[in-house]
Amino acid sequence: MGKMRSIAAFVLLSAAITGGCSSEPVSEHSNTKQQEAKQQNNSPKTAAALAATVTTRGNGTKEVTNMLDTLVVVNKQRNMGADYEPPDLVEPNIPFSIEKKDPKKLMRKEAAAALEQLFAQAKEEHIDLVGQSAYRSYATQQAVFKRLTKKYGGEQEANKVSSHPGQSEHQTGLAIDITSHRMGFTLEEKFGETPEGIWLKEHAPKYGFIIRYPKGKEEITGYSYEPWHIRYVGKEAAQEIASKNSTLEEYLSQ
Ligand code: DAL
Ligand code: ZN
Repeated sequence: MGKMRSIAAFVLLSAAITGGCSSEPVSEHSNTKQQEAKQQNNSPKTAAALAATVTTRGNGTKEVTNMLDTLVVVNKQRNMGADYEPPDLVEPNIPFSIEKKDPKKLMRKEAAAALEQLFAQAKEEHIDLVGQSAYRSYATQQAVFKRLTKKYGGEQEANKVSSHPGQSEHQTGLAIDITSHRMGFTLEEKFGETPEGIWLKEHAPKYGFIIRYPKGKEEITGYSYEPWHIRYVGKEAAQEIASKNSTLEEYLSQ
């Protein structure tokens, strides 16, 4: 029932906030056509369920129109404008891996409040969680992707672990990468097997967060397993997604 209401809200919101997104074209990039087809075939209803929340640009790419919805889907098929910035970014009061003030500590207000509660429970249970990277502007993502393209020797390889600018959830202000002292503040798959990673997966949904890129769902999400990347979607959606070992795309395609 909640989903139906959300999808209806998408339609209303998309009409209301289209002006919040950039109309600037973003260069054609993304993964290969073959990968795109694979992703869509794997979840055939997704395209129809989400069609109401994108508009097609002149160059054929899709631009998301419901950026303020907590269930917004940004992925390899769904772009944000280069000038999209969330309107209500704040710094959550949690430990970060860096001391200084930095835009990467920011999140949208509702997500930041939920994150503080998640971290408060972790602290009570002596679980050491550390925030590493939350909001990223389009320009910052561009720099990150460029660096990783060099590191992995090509855009296609880099795009398994990092988004093209305009396609990163970090630009929505609803996502954050979590690490720990045990991990030396790095982001690696083995975090998922540490007490902190296991605790995070178990408790994040109670506060409205999901592990956005789960193991075994790479063809649906388009990305490798990332046990550190949590995304705020609200409690109802997060609990249902987690209980079904599902993804945001699958949740919205039911
Ligand atoms: N690592 C995720 C996919 C990002 O670049 O947003
Ligand atoms: Zn991330």
